[in-house]
Parts: sequence; structure tokens; C-alpha cells
Amino acid sequence: MENVKGKVAFITGAASGIGLGIAKAFGEAGMKAVIADLRKSAIDEVIPYFEERGWPVHGIQLNVTDREAYVRAADEAEEVFGKIHILVNNAGVEVPANKVWDIPYEDIDFITEVNFKGVLNGIHTILPRILKHGEEGHVVSTASQSGLSVVPAFAMYNSTKAAIIALMETLACDLMGTNVGASAFCPGPIEGNLRNTSKEVSAMMGLKRENNAPPPPRRVPERGNLLMDPVEAGRRVLRGIRRKDLYIFTHSEFKDVMTKKCNAMLRAYPDQPVNEEFMRLFSILTVNPIYDMQTQVPAPDWK
Ligand SMILES: NC(=O)c1ccc[n+]([C@@H]2O[C@H](COP(=O)([O-])OP(=O)(O)OC[C@H]3O[C@@H](n4cnc5c(N)ncnc54)[C@H](O)[C@@H]3O)[C@@H](O)[C@H]2O)c1
Repeated sequence: MENVKGKVAFITGAASGIGLGIAKAFGEAGMKAVIADLRKSAIDEVIPYFEERGWPVHGIQLNVTDREAYVRAADEAEEVFGKIHILVNNAGVEVPANKVWDIPYEDIDFITEVNFKGVLNGIHTILPRILKHGEEGHVVSTASQSGLSVVPAFAMYNSTKAAIIALMETLACDLMGTNVGASAFCPGPIEGNLRNTSKEVSAMMGLKRENNAPPPPRRVPERGNLLMDPVEAGRRVLRGIRRKDLYIFTHSEFKDVMTKKCNAMLRAYPDQPVNEEFMRLFSILTVNPIYDMQTQVPAPDWK
């Protein structure tokens, strides 16, 4: 989707961090941004940034787990800006670190509802509207590098993000032959407020935690200024939409661990000859053109 000027984007979790960075990058590019977020006060804080620059913006309080509210939010966005072209399923939460067998069911349900089912709710509500108007469109869902190479003790976060990647790959298959693209956005460490907003959101959603203790300190020591600016991440998302990338990654530093993971998987296939007839008969399993369509992403050209 090369021509984005004047196009309408519905971005969830856009009142903070990466979602806000995406909305700003879209504003820079002349797009109209719907800032959808559960935290109304946070929406009110960020709207002036767009208004001061003359960038079209509209805030909507939305809990992505509320399917009926999602329909109302989509109706409102269309009333304000007209057709929606881009959906960014970015709202997400984390839960405290735990051994898998110790994760409270409340945490399992909370993070699955928001991180995974919230993305499905977005696709279910908004994608049919994009397909119906017939203009070019795109769906991006924010997964994480953690959905590809796991972070110890964060099973639910890793798993919900891995689920989003599988979902977006399958969506890309479903959308082949249409003028709507699909991308899994898998950021590495970006400046954001996930730990704090997750607590706020869980309280707003009425989550009763027996152990609401903050997660233990992460293994990483001092991160200094190495976290990526969310607007920079947003520009990478916009570039991915323009390029129709299946995967939008932020950090080349993860190439090493991914090479090791992919090589480990390749080594796990039995070292025996391939049955060509099997390959042909089960081509729905053994061949998938979506993977061939991802081309090499160059270094950023906007600095
Ligand atoms: N920051 C990182 O390093 C990083 C890395 C990889 C992936 N991610 C993912 O990026 C996304 C944004 O993270 P961030 O770091 O910018 O966090 P953030 O806390 O700054 O922003 C998340 C926003 O989502 C909103 N939100 C949460 N639950 C919601 C719900 N049910 N309905 C509507 N809005 C809801 C919050 O209110 C918040 O404004 C998340 O999906 C996160 O998992 C972040």
C-alpha cells in the first residue's frame, strides 16, 4: 500500500508507547489516526500533540476485549473519518513472570483475552469493512520478538505473541489475491510503559489477583538509551505497510538467535530422503508462497 496520504488508520493501544509512535509516524505521513485505547485520560493527554501539528486525529475509548464496543468504535471512526484503510492491532499487556505451572488462571485469561482475542476482535470487526469498500488496505498486528525467540519466565507473553504471528501468517494467506495486506510486527525493546499500563488495565478490567506483586527484575542490567524511540518503530511499521512486508522486525541484533532457532528446527527433521509424491499431494502443507514474498528490508533511509 504505497499511497497512504489521507488514509484512515485505526490503531489500538495508541495512547502510549509503540501505538502512539505508530500514530505519530502515520500523522507525519499525512494519514488520519484513530487513537483507540482503554485509558481515556491517556487519550486526552496525547490528542493535543496531533492537533498542534494539524494532523487529523480522533480518540475513542475502547476495550479491545469488548466485542460490542468494538463495533460501536468502528462505526464512530467511520462517521468521523469515512472509510478505514489500516487496522493496527497493537493493544497488549504483560503479566508477572512465573514458572508455567504457577501462572494464575486469572493471568492466563487476562493476557489471552487482550493480547490474542483482542487482535481477533479487531480483525473480525474492521477487516470486513476494509474489504467491503474495496480500496487498498492493510492489517498490522503487534506481536513481539518474544513470539519468535522466547524470554524465560514469560510464557503467556511469549505464547500470545507467537499466536499473533501464526494468525497474521494465516491471514496473509486468506488475503492473497486481494488489495489488503497483512503484517506481523515483531518489535524488540522499544520505549513503552507496558508494566505500568498492564497493572492499570488489569485493575480497570476487574482482574482480581491473589498475587499482584510486580514481576521480578529482568535479567537485563542497565538498558541505558538503547531502547528504540516509538516513533522510529512507527516509521518502520509504515515502511512495512508500504512494502507489504509479512514480517516487520526492528532489530538486526536478533538475527543470531533466530539463525540458531531455525537451524535447531531444521536439524530436528529426520535426515532421510523426501518423498516427492507426498510433497505434491500435501502441497497445502509443504508449499506456501507467503514466505517467498518477504524480500530483504534495507537499512532505514529517513535519518
Ligand atoms: N515496548 C516493547 O519493548 C515491546 C516489545 C515487543 C512488543 N511490544 C508490544 O507492543 C504493544 C505496545 O506496547 P508498549 O510497550 O507500547 O506498551 P504501552 O503500555 O506503552 O502501551 C500499551 C497501550 O495498550 C493499551 N491497552 C492495554 N490493554 C488494552 C485493552 N484491553 N483495550 C484497549 N487498550 C488497551 C494501554 O492502555 C496502553 O496505552 C504491546 O502489544 C506489547 O506487547 C512491546
